Amino acid sequence: MSTSLFGKRVLLGISAGIAAYKSAHLARLLKKTGCEVRVVMTEGAQAFITPLTLQALTGEPVRTSLLDTEAEAGMGHIELAKWADVILIAPATADLMARLAHGHADDLLTTLCLATEARCIMAPAMNQAMWRHPATLANAERLESFGWTLLGPDAGDQACGDVGPGRMLEPEAILSGLEETQASGPDALHGGSFPTEPIPTTPATEPLSPTPATEPRDLAGKRVVITAGPTREALDPVRYLSNHSSGKMGYALATVCAARGARVTLVSGPVALATPAGVERVDVLSAVEMLEAVESALPCDIFIGCAAVADYRAAEVSSQKLKKGDGDTGLTLTLTRNPDIVATVAARAERPFTVGFAAETQSLETHAADKLARKRLDLIVANDVTLAGAGFGSDDNAATLFWPGEGETHRETVSLRGKAELAALVIDRIIERLD
Ligand code: C5P
Repeated sequence: MSTSLFGKRVLLGISAGIAAYKSAHLARLLKKTGCEVRVVMTEGAQAFITPLTLQALTGEPVRTSLLDTEAEAGMGHIELAKWADVILIAPATADLMARLAHGHADDLLTTLCLATEARCIMAPAMNQAMWRHPATLANAERLESFGWTLLGPDAGDQACGDVGPGRMLEPEAILSGLEETQASGPDALHGGSFPTEPIPTTPATEPLSPTPATEPRDLAGKRVVITAGPTREALDPVRYLSNHSSGKMGYALATVCAARGARVTLVSGPVALATPAGVERVDVLSAVEMLEAVESALPCDIFIGCAAVADYRAAEVSSQKLKKGDGDTGLTLTLTRNPDIVATVAARAERPFTVGFAAETQSLETHAADKLARKRLDLIVANDVTLAGAGFGSDDNAATLFWPGEGETHRETVSLRGKAELAALVIDRIIERLD
């Protein structure tokens, strides 16, 4: 797939986090991809990286202040807000998220975000405890309800010495996330279409945590590994084979498991979703990488293979960009089979309770029952991806659950509902069947 970013006008916002040094590399990547890039830095960001660095990399003056009469005489802030096709903030600090979530316009960057109708994307970066704080999680949710897309954060070692969620995604992963949002079409996200109804403010008396206080802790002490999203199989340095999986179902399952007390590792293909609170996320691209990450996360009590793993990869990945030849009428690719991750896990001697998903376009029951037996699964969640309002990219899903019984296959049909609700039901059924 070639890049969908060529010629896009990207306003890169940088706020005051240690990850700001990576924004210079991000600016370079954006330029290399063919974007027009203008940079706006908050006052605090300038303590981490200088405007001169970004000016040298983008070839454009860097804006830092709303009250700069000279800069405003060139391109005023409203013109700048209109100029952008995309506002990308990386890193986005907890403070900036809070200000944006509450409509502040107290510096140039927040003012631009309020004035723009461009697509708005941010890569949060902060200490893990700050990210896990209910205030930050509520702000993240509120920003998403306004149409913001959050890329990451990633989990792992932090500059402050902590380990956990809050690391800014690497610039390459931010670029892929940005490409995905472009590829998903102009109306899929913010795209200038703010809701006309006011977003209700959370009453101060309600718990800010996205986890309801009544959530059962029936997975306390359990270890869960979940795969989610698509895989991306490289053809050459710029192209790949992939699919339309958004990762929403796998992320909903991870959210439910963590809220119910499990220790969760989410092995994720490239998606534009925030890491659920309390979940360890491992980012991968290809099926082979996904299998490696799953194997190093084992053993576990429950394994859920929710990823849309590509069945095939290129037999040989070209080290140079594949070129058209004069008079070519086509291109033949030789593909080779990818490992089956869920079947590999189910075949282990010390196997976890293993759950698969089956996205089908026809003969759902036959295909699902066949996969249940062939992959030796304990449960399979099958859905018809041709059903309107369900499946890939949608927030809703309908499904049929199949599990093996004495000489027969049991089934339960679940009507169309939100993926979070379906995830809770799937987890209920798993817990009922755990030894
Ligand atoms: O692609 P398929 O319909 O066979 O996928 C069914 C299940 O198998 C899903 O749970 C998917 O995550 C898993 N799978 C896998 N590795 C593959 C192909 C599919 O884990 N290579």
